[in-house]
Amino acid sequence: MNFERKLLVTGGAGFIGSHVLRLMVKKYPETLFVNLDKLTYAGNLDNLKDLADSNNYAFVRGDIVDEKAVGDLFLKYQFDGVIHLAAESHVDRSIEDPMAFIKTNILGTMNLLNAARDAWKDGFDGKLFYHVSTDEVYGTLGETGLFTEETSYDPRSPYSASKASSDHLVRAYMHTYGMPVVISNCSNNYGSHQFPEKLIPLFIDNIVNNKPLPVYGDGKYTRDWLWVHDHALAIDLIFHKGTTGETYNIGGFNEWKNIDLINELCSIMDKKLDREAGTSAALITYVKDRAGHDRRYAIDADKINKELGWMPTVKFEQGLEKTVDWYLDNSDWLDRIRSGEYKSVYEKQYGKMGA
Ligand code: NAD
Ligand code: DAU
Repeated sequence: MNFERKLLVTGGAGFIGSHVLRLMVKKYPETLFVNLDKLTYAGNLDNLKDLADSNNYAFVRGDIVDEKAVGDLFLKYQFDGVIHLAAESHVDRSIEDPMAFIKTNILGTMNLLNAARDAWKDGFDGKLFYHVSTDEVYGTLGETGLFTEETSYDPRSPYSASKASSDHLVRAYMHTYGMPVVISNCSNNYGSHQFPEKLIPLFIDNIVNNKPLPVYGDGKYTRDWLWVHDHALAIDLIFHKGTTGETYNIGGFNEWKNIDLINELCSIMDKKLDREAGTSAALITYVKDRAGHDRRYAIDADKINKELGWMPTVKFEQGLEKTVDWYLDNSDWLDRIRSGEYKSVYEKQYGKMGA
């Protein structure tokens, strides 16, 4: 089959990547989407079940740190663009094992940039390298203020330092080699298919199983939460309509102190599980704080709103309830993660090759 365009999406088996693919594969039937994913603990082919029969979608298991594999893939497919989401993404893991973050987030991004530069050496016309990044590169805020695209970088965890580093490399390839790039920095996403190590799915799972809810420090840390599908819509918009060379901040205009969010979640869970009010909140347990815990993140998403007309579409209270419903209706998704069975999808679908 001949395609008008071929795009490489990295990390498509993860939380946000799977939402991006579900949106774009259906929306652009003339574009081939190749999903390159290593299938780390966070990569889950269950997330992409509904794309299995799509003609314009291909899955390749591979590591972005593997320079040759990345180069070969560019030779094989002659990509017109890249949407780069693959990363080690959990702050707590970056505190335990920083090197994994340096390898994937920095070296992996370098390999992709080099492969794109090689593949596009005859000209950058019609090409685009889109790097998906995070608001954590800006560091931490006090009680007031917002991160804008002009805020200086001040990363404070190995995760955010590795993402900041990758952002700098992407910009360096634009300034030095003229590569067409675009970057977005987004706030905390929530929704279906998020690995249950992150706050919301972890706490939903713990409440179902009557396990303690470990609140770090005083619980007054603040995050700006965005419905993951709204992030996917923003990525689609930026990729197709954004100005090359620009950075776009994406956020939910939706700040919550952790403890307030957790109480809201507990009250939704009590209702959904038909438990007496206060049952879930009784599981709240204050624990030792995360090392270097950033106090507050909040995004000024004015630029993407004014330039591209993007706005979040889902109100947080509704999105949180829909999220709870999804995890309760898809308890098999969580069970397959807990048992490790989700790892066998690759072998079943593709055999042992490339594992
Ligand atoms: P995730 O951890 O759910 O998924 C990451 C995916 O990348 C997985 O499928 C994993 O298998 C794959 N991967 C990891 N290392 C790889 C490697 N070496 N080679 C190939 N694939 C590899 O992450 P997520 O939450 O979906 O985040 C996606 C991107 O968005 C990341 O770049 C992250 O920094 C960024 N981001 C996330 C959030 C958020 O709230 N989750 C917010 C802003 C930005
Ligand atoms: O801001 C964007 C970032 O959001 C992304 O770049 C990251 O990939 C993503 O993981 C997320 O980072 P956070 O560290 O903000 O997310 P997490 O869900 O780990 O934690 C949210 C808040 O809840 C944070 O203040 C830490 C706190 N927390 C988290 C966990 C897992 C707890 O109090 N207890 C917990 O058990």
